[in-house]
Amino acid sequence: MALNELKKKCLECRDCKLCETRTNVVFGEGNPNARLMFIGEGPGETEDQTGRPFVGRAGQLLEKMILAIGLTRDEVYIANMVKCRPPKNRDPEQDETETCIKYLREQVKLIDPEFIVCLGRISACRLIDPDFRVTKQHGNWIQKGKIKFMGTFHPSALLRNPNQKPEAFEDFLKIKLEYNKG
Ligand code: URA
Repeated sequence: MALNELKKKCLECRDCKLCETRTNVVFGEGNPNARLMFIGEGPGETEDQTGRPFVGRAGQLLEKMILAIGLTRDEVYIANMVKCRPPKNRDPEQDETETCIKYLREQVKLIDPEFIVCLGRISACRLIDPDFRVTKQHGNWIQKGKIKFMGTFHPSALLRNPNQKPEAFEDFLKIKLEYNKG
């Protein structure tokens, strides 16, 4: 299946209760051949309204960080653990994540990235290690199969705690270093 076919299927999805409250499905966007993928938690209000990932305040910060390492949004691929907004931006529930992960798995398979950066606890715990602690384990590369994973701070967390921004920028420099090796 091609990425656009997967997207079409995903846009029609009614497999969990989030379909009842969403405005738009936020499938993800970027370079279908990206070497680097960012995976967030789930769409917020602006994302739900536009159908695009990371376009609100957190998204603007993410974009700045991507630009700071010499890349653009169009060169990478940006997606979320769940494709529909959890009401009032609550954390996605386990059944929602487990129902939705089939789309992410297929996205990863089709895009075939070298690097996956998990933004925040929800994606790091699901994709790297169930006990992942962002404050302790951020910035470490973990090889899983063909892909190198890293967990870092969620940009929304950085907006709440700007004192963590220097650590997050260090993580992004590590991403740049590894990316530019290839
Ligand atoms: N937060 C996320 O985790 N994902 C988005 O797309 C926007 C905000």
